This record gives sequence, structure tokens and C-alpha cells, in this order.
Amino acid sequence: MKVYPNVLSQNDIIDQKLLTYSFQERGLQFGDGIYEVIRIYQGTYYLLTEHIDRLFRSAEAIKLQLPFSKSMVKKQLESLLKVNQITSDAKVYMQITRGTAIRNHIFPNVEANFYAYAQELPRPLDLLTTGVDTIIQPDVRWQNCYIKSLNLLPNVLAKQNAYEQNCFEAIFHRNDVITECSSSNLYMVKNGTIYTHPETNNILHGCVRQRIKQLVAALKVPLIEEAFTIEQLYQSDELFLSSSTAEIMPIIHVEGKQISDGKPGPTTRILQRAYEKDAKISEQ
Ligand SMILES: Cc1ncc(COP(=O)(O)O)c(C=O)c1O
Repeated sequence: MKVYPNVLSQNDIIDQKLLTYSFQERGLQFGDGIYEVIRIYQGTYYLLTEHIDRLFRSAEAIKLQLPFSKSMVKKQLESLLKVNQITSDAKVYMQITRGTAIRNHIFPNVEANFYAYAQELPRPLDLLTTGVDTIIQPDVRWQNCYIKSLNLLPNVLAKQNAYEQNCFEAIFHRNDVITECSSSNLYMVKNGTIYTHPETNNILHGCVRQRIKQLVAALKVPLIEEAFTIEQLYQSDELFLSSSTAEIMPIIHVEGKQISDGKPGPTTRILQRAYEKDAKISEQ
């Protein structure tokens, strides 16, 4: 196994001398692979074990034989930060595909391809304070959204639609039932209780979501994993989303309609503070 110690340059160009792939690569030709995005605060991984566990679950789900153990990949990821002297807020992107072979749908008998890189990533402090706007899009993805697969075209198209409407995120629904967002999980607060879609195959089981469940239990804030509709979403007291890069992000508009008083709500703010404490984020 090799972890390439790349740091993306300012303009996001990977050092080609260190990392090149054949065009006969199954990630490129079939999207036949999986990935993870892991948060780093002040040079330290946040929720690393959770991400590695999910990587192994995704690999098993697509019958991808990983050429390393959990502890080996953990060691390599730690060394990636050291080699690149990452001491600030950052993220690591890692991708594993079924390898390089002449194009054929049937699995080849070759080693998986694996790369990871670290990139500086400041916290989105302004948006975390003000909240963000969103749109709603039909969830046209497949039935195995719990796998963190490279096949992200429906997510990319939904996010682009959001971007074109000056919005931060696209909220997905299946037959009027809210699932999650294009790259984050979604929650609504009603009468002091948090609601979020259950952990079925229809959503990604987010690592931040997993931690939120532990945080609310400690805070004694009720959280019910129960699906809700678009109509209920518009009637909510608070809405927020979660992901490794967006943290706990308040949502103040959906399709141009204001949620509650149009400000991040008290439960969301309590959770944001609990998250910062948990991630050992110092006051900035
Ligand atoms: C579709 C989707 N849902 C949820 C999430 C949040 O997952 P995590 O909290 O592990 O970052 C992501 C993250 O990229 C995502 O792509």
C-alpha cells in the first residue's frame, strides 16, 4: 500500500509526478470505488475511527477486497498529516477503487488502487453563524445510499442546481419524504424534539450524525429517527444539516421560504457548541 503524500496546491492541482493513473482505471470508467472525507482540526483527525469503520463497511458492500487492515490505514493516514506538516484545520480525501485493468464489467484479478491527500480547509464560520439557504430536489439516487460510493452524479447535479440558485445545499425527497441532502444529513426540530430520517439504505450513515446522536443523549435533547415530509419541514421550528466539512449548519430558507423566524434556532446553537467542545475546537 502506498499513501501519496500530496498536498493540493492553491489551485487544486495534484502533483502529477507523484500520482498518475491509467485511463483503464475502474474508478474512472465505472465509478467502481468508494471514498471518505475526514475532518482535521488543528492537525488532529476528528472521528477517524468512525470514518475507517464506514470505509470498511462500504468496501464489504461492494465486494471490494481491501489490501490493508484498519490499523494499517489509520497509521498511513496519521503519517500523511505528519509528512505534509498539517497543523491547521484541514480535510483528507481518500479513494479506493477496484484497480486498473482492461475494461470489463466483471471484477478483474488486480490490486485495489488507493490514494489520499490532505488539503487545508478553514471552518465555514460565517455560514455557521448566519445559517444557509437550500432548495428541494427529488432523490433520484439508487437504493444503496448507505455506501459511500464514487457514483455521485445525482448528488453533483442537485448541488449544482443549488449553486445556480445561490443556495448552499439541495435537500432530497423521495415521494415527498425527506431523506438527506446532496452531501450532508438533515434534521428538523419541532417542539424541542429533533427528527431525522432513520438509518436505512436510503441515506448515508454520516459520521457527524453518529456523533450528534451521542451529543444529544448527553444533553438530554430528544432525537427521534423518524422520516418527515416536505410539508412538515416547512412547519419546523429549526432545520439544520450535518457533515464533516459543514459541521452543524443551520438552514434558514428552503426554496426561498423562511424557516421559523429566519435565524439559527436555540437547539441548533446548543448542538454547535457541543460539537465544538467534542472536536476540541478552541474559540476563534
Ligand atoms: C450524501 C451524504 N450524506 C451525508 C454526509 C455526511 O457524512 P459525514 O457526517 O460522515 O461527513 C455526506 C458527506 O459527505 C454525504 O455525501
